[in-house]
Amino acid sequence: MLDKLGRSIDYLRISLTNECNMRCIYCRPDKGACEEKMIMPYEEIVLLLGLFLQNGIKKIRLTGGEPLLYPRIIELVEAIKDNFSIEKLVMTTNGILLSDKAAQLLENGLDGVNISIDALTPKVFRQITRGSDIHKVLLGIEAVRKKIPVKINTVIMKGINEQEIIPLAEFSRQYDIPVRFIEMMPFSQTKNYEGIKENQIKDIISSKYGSLIADTTATGVASYYDFDDKCGKIGFISALSHNFCHECNRIRLMSNGILKPCLYSEEEYDLKQLLLQKASAEEIKSIINKVIYNKPARHKMQERVFFNNKHKFMSEIGG
Ligand code: GTP
Ligand code: 5AD
Ligand code: SF4
Repeated sequence: MLDKLGRSIDYLRISLTNECNMRCIYCRPDKGACEEKMIMPYEEIVLLLGLFLQNGIKKIRLTGGEPLLYPRIIELVEAIKDNFSIEKLVMTTNGILLSDKAAQLLENGLDGVNISIDALTPKVFRQITRGSDIHKVLLGIEAVRKKIPVKINTVIMKGINEQEIIPLAEFSRQYDIPVRFIEMMPFSQTKNYEGIKENQIKDIISSKYGSLIADTTATGVASYYDFDDKCGKIGFISALSHNFCHECNRIRLMSNGILKPCLYSEEEYDLKQLLLQKASAEEIKSIINKVIYNKPARHKMQERVFFNNKHKFMSEIGG
């Protein structure tokens, strides 16, 4: 459906749980619970999804925390693919559990995965994730890459993983997998890190491979570039240096049942509360409809208004 600014909103991101089996330095605190554990009951997801679909949702992305930690993930993928008429069911994962679950996910019809890799060098990967093993993630990629589209997401931080830019570009070329560099967005754990801007990364890549060629056919939050020889692909998701809110097509359901019309706005609508109050399907559907219609025009990251509502971790919202 269209929001009041005429944007077509047809993409729902569902954070299944805020739990994660990694503790990336820019995403979660060092130790201790960073937030109350939130997990979305299976039946509620299925019920709410039916209502979202009636409001025009065509693409669903399962996120987290880490969506592969969701206890009924395989069954959920099957249920969504079998019972709902959507164009795409995709997932954003850290990839650690992917090789274990790949066969069943593929069998049940998962259409694609985006996988976070901030470094290919094992030591740097371990440093950023506070202890995880890159080889497990690479096994996960190997298990799916010939069957469904895979994209890599990378956040580059000054003084931490800039030296990984070229190896990641090389990885993209070797496996013909798009690597997308995401500008670090200001959330509660990012205070101590400085992100690197799109132009700087583009310059580093161009100085080795020659000018990148813009792929003008691409849609969505990422802008894509080809290498001269069309082998590999580089993407940029630059919420700070190239605002893309005017073409936003998405809303988010958090794992506590709260609907968030924008990643970086304070607005939240508690659908779980409506379910507990036994609101009718028609009532919930009409609230979803109103939230979509009134989606905020844009985020306020550029103003560096520090995210100060209670859901301040990226892992709660699902990215
Ligand atoms: P595709 O559908 O494959 O293009 O993926 P995606 O970019 O929608 O999803 P993904 O989960 O891989 O997100 C990659 C990065 O983009 C994450 O850091 C997200 O937080 C960020 N991102 C995704 N959607 C939005 C958005 O609407 N606004 C902003 N500011 N960032 C977003
Ligand atoms: N800014 C940008 N991207 C982030 N991610 C997590 N935190 C941030 C942040 N502050 C990314 C992860 C993952 C995706 C879901 O979101 O690296 O690839
Ligand atoms: Fe859409 Fe908000 Fe993301 Fe902007 S920040 S693209 S409005 S969800």
